Amino acid sequence: MYLTAMSSAENPTEKTLAELRVRTPESVTSLFAELREKANKEQRRIEKAEQFEQFRVKWVGRKSGILTQVTDNWLKPADAGLKRIVGQALNEFRNHLQSLVEQARQDLDARATQVADTRERVDLSLPGVIRPIGSHHLIRQVFQEIEDIFFSIGFSVVEGPEIETPYYNFEALNIPEFHPVRDDMDTFYIDLPKGAPVPLLLRTHTSPMQIRTMEKQKPPVRVIVPGKVYRRDNPDATHSFMFHQVEGLAVDTDITFCDFTGTIEYFVKQFFGPSVKTRFRPSYFPFTEPSVEFDASCSFCGGTGTAAAGGTCSKCKGAAWIELFGAGMVDPAVYGFVNYDAKKVSGFAFGIGIDRLAMLKYGIDDIQVFFQNDVRFLRQFP
Ligand code: DAH
Repeated sequence: MYLTAMSSAENPTEKTLAELRVRTPESVTSLFAELREKANKEQRRIEKAEQFEQFRVKWVGRKSGILTQVTDNWLKPADAGLKRIVGQALNEFRNHLQSLVEQARQDLDARATQVADTRERVDLSLPGVIRPIGSHHLIRQVFQEIEDIFFSIGFSVVEGPEIETPYYNFEALNIPEFHPVRDDMDTFYIDLPKGAPVPLLLRTHTSPMQIRTMEKQKPPVRVIVPGKVYRRDNPDATHSFMFHQVEGLAVDTDITFCDFTGTIEYFVKQFFGPSVKTRFRPSYFPFTEPSVEFDASCSFCGGTGTAAAGGTCSKCKGAAWIELFGAGMVDPAVYGFVNYDAKKVSGFAFGIGIDRLAMLKYGIDDIQVFFQNDVRFLRQFP
């Protein structure tokens, strides 16, 4: 009977037990059980913080929450005979509501943490971000290889200015103003204000450092000079207006032609491998006497002049030899420019074109690739 009464009533807790016609302890218990069931159901539907707040205010809100209504409407006006049982049921109901609220709060917290976790989750199985690490340019690597070889036989490295005076680039190297050799070394002159004391140019070779080194230092001298050089050449597969050289200079009181050839051969074998054959050809440089052009057996055809597939080797054009670099015994005239006593000292010098050497060693047939910065090329030489 009371069930009908309660179900039909909109808000049974706004009425007194008498109004609800609840008169026995059993019906009190059932009434509370029904209320508890309703609370359970509502609590289970809570998904969001706002719903939780509504639930909390509705059931345990101090001012007009259902718990307060039950106290005011059911307990306080209850008949003496029912008061104890209502009080007891109310206590249990209060505890139950508190645990429902607490449970809902925890569930919401857990849900929030879970959402945050999913959002911030670190997926350890994802591959990391691979940052590309740079490496030395092939030219730089070849510089390093050459420096290491010369270090091993007592040379040290010096570097010099890329902007030079004609004196160091030419005159002191025994190349006077109207010497025909200057035609091969046409270069870039710096625009200077009128009245500048000397013209300035981009050095055409690393040889000026021979002079600068000997001016500063008494024999024995054993240096190599890696660096950039410039010429007014049109770019093609074997020419570039900027390229690289390593100059070498050894001067002492007892250096012979044998020391010269031995040193150069040692270097070439270290650089290209022990099976390479070497030879000298007479040549001419104003700052060396005698001058030589140094050749190595062609590493592409093994010094046969014949390609593996038959026919002539395309690299040495069937010559079996490849021209490597110029060298020679230092011309006594050069010592005159640096106050060395040409009667007491002797020495040798060489000037290696690095780009050419790198092309030969690594089978590269266009010098331009060194300067185009195409990573597909650069990556092949990590
Ligand atoms: N400086 C010359 C050039 O660039 C190369 C050279 C030849 C350097 C003979 C030398 C040498 O030291 O002895 O063409």
